Amino acid sequence: YKKITTKSLVDMKAQGEKISMLTAYDFTMAKIVDSAGVDVILVGDSASNVMAGHETTLPITLDQMIYHASSVVRAVDRALVVVDLPFGTYQSDPKEALRSAIRIMKESGGHAVKLEGGSEIKDSIKKILNAGIPVMGHLGLTPQSIYKFGTYTVRAKEDAEAEKLLEDAKLLERLGCFALVLEKIPAALAEKVAAQLHIPVIGIGAGSGVDGQVLVLHDMIGMTHEFSPRFLRRYMNLYEEMSQAIGQYVTDVKTKDFPNAHEQY
Ligand code: KIV
Ligand code: NA
Repeated sequence: YKKITTKSLVDMKAQGEKISMLTAYDFTMAKIVDSAGVDVILVGDSASNVMAGHETTLPITLDQMIYHASSVVRAVDRALVVVDLPFGTYQSDPKEALRSAIRIMKESGGHAVKLEGGSEIKDSIKKILNAGIPVMGHLGLTPQSIYKFGTYTVRAKEDAEAEKLLEDAKLLERLGCFALVLEKIPAALAEKVAAQLHIPVIGIGAGSGVDGQVLVLHDMIGMTHEFSPRFLRRYMNLYEEMSQAIGQYVTDVKTKDFPNAHEQY
C-alpha cells in the first residue's frame, strides 16, 4: 500500500493483514511514525494528557485538536490520519457534531474523525457520514466518559455491557463507520466482535483476536513512565535515556566541557 485509505484498511482485514496504528500529536514525531511504516496515525485526544498534562481527556478543545492534527498532517506521506473529536463537540446535537467534524477536515487536512460511543450518538455519526467524512468508532473504555465509569479498569466484563457493546459495534458497521477501536475489554469479547464485523476492529488492551493494534506513542517508547497497564508493551525506555542525556548536558555546561573548540565559531 503506497498510501493508506479507509478502503486499504478494509482490504487488509479481508486479507488477514493486521493493521498497525499509533498516536502522534506533532510534526516531528509524526514524521518518524509515518516513515517507520505505521498504517494509521491517530491524533488522539490523549494529547490532553500527554501534551498538556491534564488528568483526563475532557479539557482539550477543538482548536487545540486542529493545531495538533494540522501539524501531523504536514508530516505524513503514507499513513491515514484519524483525528479524535474532543469531548463536548459532538454529543449535544448532530448539527454541532457535523460542524465540528467539518472544521477538523477543513482546518487540519485530516482524513477521518473518531467519536466515542454507540447508539447514543448514532444521529451524529450518520450526519457526519452523510457529509462524506469517514468515521472511526470507539467502544469499551471510552475515556471521555471516565466520570461516569469512575475507574479506568476493564469494561464489558458483565454480560449486559458485553451484549450492548456487540450491538453497538454492529450498529456502527451498519451506519457506515470504516473501522472501530475497542479499548480495554476482555480479549474473548473483542475477538467475537472482530469475527462478526467486516470492518476492521483495532484493539488497545483488547487482546490478539482483533484486526489491528493501537498504542499511545509516548507510552510505547517509554517517554511516559507513571502509566503501566498490563496491555502496554514498552519498546524503549526513553524517559531514562533522555534523563541521562539531559543530565550529561547539564554537567558538560557546568564543567565548561561544552562547547569545546570545534563547537564554536
Ligand atoms: O486518544 C487516544 O490516544 C485514543 C487511543 C488510545 C485509541 O483514543
Ligand atoms: Na481518544
